This record gives sequence, structure tokens and C-alpha cells, in this order.
Amino acid sequence: MRGVPPFYVTTPIYYVNDVPHIGHAYTTVTADALARWHRLNGDDTFFLTGTDEHGLKVLRAAEANDCSPQEWADRTSARFREAWDLLGIAYDDFIRTTEGRHEHAVQALLQRIYDNGHIYKSTYSGLYCVPCEAYYAPTDLVGDEMCPVHDRPVEHLEEENWFFRLSAFAEPLLAWYEAQSGAVTPVGKRNEALGIIRQGLADISISRTSIDWGVPVPWDPSQVFYVWYDALINYATAIGYGTDRQRFDAWWPHVHHLIGKDILRFHCVYWPAMLLAAGEEPPANIHVHGYLLVGGAKMSKTALNQIFPADLVETFGVDGFRYQFLRDQSFGPDGDFSFEGMVTRYNTDLANNLGNLLSRVATVVNKACGGVGPAPHPESPLADVAARVLAEASRHWESVAPSQALEATWSLVREANAYLEANEPWKMPPGAELDAVLGDALEVLRIVAILATPAIPTTCAEIWRRIGLTGTPGDEPLPASAAWGRYPGGLTVVKGDPLFPRLSVES
Ligand code: ME8
Ligand code: MG
Repeated sequence: MRGVPPFYVTTPIYYVNDVPHIGHAYTTVTADALARWHRLNGDDTFFLTGTDEHGLKVLRAAEANDCSPQEWADRTSARFREAWDLLGIAYDDFIRTTEGRHEHAVQALLQRIYDNGHIYKSTYSGLYCVPCEAYYAPTDLVGDEMCPVHDRPVEHLEEENWFFRLSAFAEPLLAWYEAQSGAVTPVGKRNEALGIIRQGLADISISRTSIDWGVPVPWDPSQVFYVWYDALINYATAIGYGTDRQRFDAWWPHVHHLIGKDILRFHCVYWPAMLLAAGEEPPANIHVHGYLLVGGAKMSKTALNQIFPADLVETFGVDGFRYQFLRDQSFGPDGDFSFEGMVTRYNTDLANNLGNLLSRVATVVNKACGGVGPAPHPESPLADVAARVLAEASRHWESVAPSQALEATWSLVREANAYLEANEPWKMPPGAELDAVLGDALEVLRIVAILATPAIPTTCAEIWRRIGLTGTPGDEPLPASAAWGRYPGGLTVVKGDPLFPRLSVES
């Protein structure tokens, strides 16, 4: 432990009406990389993901596929777990909102809000978007009737149900935003949330009589909670809300929620307000990212422009996939995905820079040093670069900027390649001078294998093995593990196949 709070990171729980595409994978890979970074630092880390399985959308998807909603949820939830297994996602818990533990926590938390006097019964009539599972105020619509997220008409719905007195929390929320000015990042998204609160908050309907695919309202079992107020509570369920207070207090409120901007209102306004109403602290960190666009448009089922992880993994490998989305997609703004861009990034950073560094060094060590790697020079010019890169990468991982963290890490790879080109060890006679150059390059590979582990864990373990080290890059905590000069020398260096075979756009 570094005397820092434990690191609890979450993704949204994804709807099981859809199958996982690269948009879901983007958030999930980012959360996984952050969790891996914190584990490398020896922090207590808990990484939660899962699936959102109640509500009208899932009910309709099940109907369309001729099965019960539970069967449908089982099937589709498994698709998410398979996708995450494929991508090497090392979550600590996968929560499903149809689990008993979740129903229990939802009822406990909403009962608390009810007991605290913030829930009342009334008639609701409004404009509802089914894919969003949300009511919209007329002013939020595009034109007179189009959902701003889905660009399709909303429906008129009227029912008697339970309301959460959100209006009473505008002031407490503003006070919280004031006191925790860094809680929502980036700052533009914080301002967006503040804008929503300052516009005035109307009370919200939190239950439904019209369907029964949900968690029953404990004080009125003729209704179920509306899917969003059930779903948000997953973050509390997984750390023991309602069953294990001590465990809950160990992790809460030190959470880092990663979300797409489509669900900002729920996470940055409704969720903190619900927690305040239940007498709990709001989440300490909410990191909001933009959309992954394909050909300039948001990926969606209806636009038929979805790309699935397996399609890209086939060409780029798991680490090629992970690296692309962490490095090329800056966390915050929207970003366009293109296959050509991915090939370029892969060839430049992975095949050429990192792949070449390892293969050059291994080749010369095998030719000139009998395959035994020499130790680095304590005063290598690369030592300072490595120290600077460690500091920069740490800062960027801590501020949820994987793209910049990897850019910093790859600057060390590039410097090491430049160092080899300047010294041309492949032309040097065997001796102390050659040993120092090769030892320095091996030491860079060792340090990079640690720093790049959050993004490309399998490759880093392989580099570790090929330069003759035992164990894994994460066996010792950062920052000590990345201090210059730890590569011992005298280890067998294996050449092996290219880490990342070059690709052409046609492939
Ligand atoms: O909203 N670009 O689930 P969901 C970037 N169940 N990220 C994208 C994306 C894209 N094109 N498409 C999806 C829900 N995402 C609720 C959440 S949480 C208590 C309940 C990612 O299946 C992004 O993280 O619609 C977005 O917020 C999330 O998937 C929406 O997933
Ligand atoms: Mg959605």
C-alpha cells in the first residue's frame, strides 16, 4: 500500500438486449488497464463489471427471440463474459442484476431512501424513450418528439408510481460538486452535469406498474423499480451494501466509475442524489468518456455499423486490440475508429518500435554474447529517460489518461531504439562497451515490460520471459520495480518469433 485509498473501479453494467461491441470493450479495457496499473503499484484493487438485465428493453428482446427474459439474460450475459475472457479482462467480480444479492441491496437502499422520507406516490405522464429506458422533458427532445440519444420518436406513457424527490437534492448536489471539484472528469463533463442541476431538477418516477421484470418495491410489491434505479445500485451491491457494512465502508466512496457520456445524467446527477438521500457519500470519482465513432457516426444496432471485438482480435491479436483502444482513443472526447488507422498504429508502435527493439537486442545478444544478456550501465543516458517516463506514465494513469501514459512509455522505447541506432551494437566487437549498450537496452525492455503491462499484459509477460527473467512483471510493486539497474545480467535471452508480425492494410 502507498498510503492511498483502495482502488475500486467500475464499468457500466451493460444491457443484455445487445451483444458486446467495441464501444463496450473500450470502457471495459480501460477499466481493466487502470485496475492492472493499480495492482502493479500494490494498491488494494477491486474491478467490477457486469450486466443490466431488467426492464422493458430486455423484456422486448426476449419476446423477439421467443424465450423468457431470464433465459435471454443468461444467454446474453454469457456473451459479455466470453468477450471479456477473450480480451484478457481480469475483473474481480461480474455482477448480474438478476442475482439475489442484488435484489437484496436494491431493496435495502431504496427502503432507506423511503424511510428517510424522500419517496412518495404520484401519477406520472411523460415522454419515454424505450432504448434509453428514460423519460425526457420536452425541452430535451430533438424537434418535438425525437430522443436526443437514439434519434427516434419517444412514446407517451402514463402511470401511477413512486417518485424520488430529486428536486430536494439540487442544493446538496451543488454543494457536493463545489466541495469535490475533481469528482467528475473531464471538467467539460463536470460542467455539463452542473448545467443539468442548475437548470432545475424535477422529481423522478422510480417504479413501474406496467411490467414485472424487475426488483419489487419492498413496501408495494405491485410495482417494480424502474431499471435505472435498480442498475445504479449494482456498484453498492458488489461491495456488500445491505449485508456487510464493514466491507462496504472499506471501498466506498473511493470508487472510480468509468462511463460513456450517454449515461452522464444518471451517474452524475441521479446516483449521487440517491446516495445522499440514503445517507451515504456520493461516488468520489466519475470519469466520463466520449463516443467511439465509426465513419463519424456512433455505433449502434440500428445504424448497422457495429464492430465486434472478435473481428479485430483475429487480425491484431488481443494485445493489439487492447493497445489500439487505450492508445489511440484519448479518454474524454469522441474519437473515430478506422481499420486503416488501427493498422498504422499497430505497425508503428507494436511491430516496429517495440517488436524491433526486442528482436534487435535478442539477435545481437545471441550473435555476440552467446545468448547471455549483459547487465546495464548504472549511468546510462537511458536511466534518466526511464525515470522521467516512469513519473510521467504514473501521473497519466493516475489521472485516467491511458493514451498519454502509453505515449510516455513508448517514448522510452523510441529512445532506446535511437540509442541502438547511434551506437550500432551490431557492428561493435565483443567487449565491455558492447555489453553496456546491450545491457541498457535489455533494462529498457524490462522496464517497458512493467509499464506496458496494463495495456498489453500477455506481450509483457513474454518479453519478461525472453529476456530471461522469472516470475512476472508485476511480482514486485512499482515504483521500486522500475528503478534503473535491476536487470541482473547473466540471463539467457531468447530470440523467438516476432512479437507483432507486420500487417498490411489489405490483410
Ligand atoms: O447504458 N462509444 O448500458 P449500455 C463509447 N445498462 N462507449 C460506448 C459506445 C460507443 N459507441 N457504445 C457503448 C447502459 N459504450 C446501462 C448502464 S450502469 C448502472 C447502467 C459503452 O449497454 C459506454 O461505456 O447501453 C456506455 O456508457 C455504455 O457502453 C452503455 O452501455
Ligand atoms: Mg445504451
